[in-house]
Amino acid sequence: MSKRRVAYFYDGDTGSYTYGLGHPMKPHRMRVTHDLVSAYGMLDKMHVLRPKRATPEVMSAFHTDEYIHFLNRVTPETAEELTYHGTRFLMGEDNPAFEGVFEFCSISAGGSISAAQRISSGAADIAINWAGGLHHAKKREASGFCYVNDIVLGILELLRTYPRVLYIDIDCHHGDGVEEAFYTTDRVMTCSFHKFGEYFPGTGTQEDRGRGKGRNYTVNIPLKDGITDEAFKRVFEPIINKIMEIYRPGAVILQCGADSLAGDKLGCFNLTMNGHAHCVQYLRAFNVPLILLGGGGYTVKNVARTWTYETACALGVQDDIDPNLPWNEYFEWFGPRYRLEVPENNMDDLNVRDGSLDKVRATALQQLSQLPCAPSVGMHEVPRESLGRHLGLDIAEEGADEDGGADDLDRRLAQHSRFVYKLQEPGGGSDESDDERYESDGSSYRRRKRMSILSNRVVSVDPDVGRGPPRGRRFFKSAVRWDETYGRVRLGKEPVLGSLNGNRLGGMMDVTGRSTPGGDVTMEDWEDGTSV
Ligand code: CO
Repeated sequence: MSKRRVAYFYDGDTGSYTYGLGHPMKPHRMRVTHDLVSAYGMLDKMHVLRPKRATPEVMSAFHTDEYIHFLNRVTPETAEELTYHGTRFLMGEDNPAFEGVFEFCSISAGGSISAAQRISSGAADIAINWAGGLHHAKKREASGFCYVNDIVLGILELLRTYPRVLYIDIDCHHGDGVEEAFYTTDRVMTCSFHKFGEYFPGTGTQEDRGRGKGRNYTVNIPLKDGITDEAFKRVFEPIINKIMEIYRPGAVILQCGADSLAGDKLGCFNLTMNGHAHCVQYLRAFNVPLILLGGGGYTVKNVARTWTYETACALGVQDDIDPNLPWNEYFEWFGPRYRLEVPENNMDDLNVRDGSLDKVRATALQQLSQLPCAPSVGMHEVPRESLGRHLGLDIAEEGADEDGGADDLDRRLAQHSRFVYKLQEPGGGSDESDDERYESDGSSYRRRKRMSILSNRVVSVDPDVGRGPPRGRRFFKSAVRWDETYGRVRLGKEPVLGSLNGNRLGGMMDVTGRSTPGGDVTMEDWEDGTSV
């Protein structure tokens, strides 16, 4: 296979953060991966770059200022107050306010944005950021271990240069945050392969296809437990091939979430390292600018093996590297075989047994057959000048002077995100059915359904507390107030009431009498037996 110029983004600090003892998401896996990549001698074969960290301003191209301001100042000590007892911004035990959370996000997001810039400038054919791929993060809140959506920020960067961007997601979980951000535009096509059915985040059916101009530009491939390499290939190849043929993206982002591997602690698929990496090889062969991002992956040694092997695939040296692991700092973790492999296990493939796989593939191909070839192509060779219209905004004329440049582009992209979210908010969009009315002490109020990635159970959060900025907002037994003058959260004089269920944020989710998310799962189950 021919050579590709590969840019590899890595910040040596990324592995130092921890979500907390017993939390399944271990940033340390990035350091283990890097160590293995290094031990295989691959660093000399690519441009190794330390990404510029993303600033709050940069993150606000997608996220609300209020949320980023919160992330930038929250600490483990202030989390209880600043999240209004876990009803806002963060998602219980899934998304703890760990020490250094903002810097961790700035590294992850900075890497994906830098990767996009490297691709756009033409300096690389493939760019890698294993610290990225945090696909669940929402505009105004964290979700499923993700706080800042580095993928959305990277795609926004690519849209400065490319008329069409394709996003593919092979994490075991639905790529909901990215899908939501680009649900109404044809400039980004999203395609997610994921487990569906009593599984976080509970979205991603084949009925969800995008809205307005974005109709049919959202592709979802819902799968069942135990999918093997061969079965996965049978949906992945024809669907991706069809998308590449008709959509003709200028650049592709592949989210390589490794929780779709066999033996993952939270995933339920049965892919081997080779089956997972086949997706990378398959996309590389199209010779379209490609960004590889990380994502989920909770059996650390297998994550490290797979992302190492996929780095080799990007370089095209996968057949040259020794399947016996070279000595490295974490060598003893890889016993007893010490090999670069993730074998399949003996679980049943429910996709094949009931024939659902073929139906899912047929439905997706049918959806794709309704699309025109390469939308917008040729209409505007220079997308910089027509972003507003491409994104479904008709604000191009208003205040857009010729030398507005990047700042104006940022403004318009940000406006687009707001526009999309307006369509999608309860009452105005597709998640309307997620709202319920409850009677409590004679008063009624709305709750929005959300799921925990730890327990795969629905938790309820009061949306009136969760949405800002506030007017006459109820602060839920808290002394916390919104300060109109400074536009930020302020702590009142009254002591914050000692929570509903002790001080754990997860306990605060227990407002409907459901059990605490993750309450029946032993934290030790997630431990690797190795300290972080
Ligand atoms: Co995942």
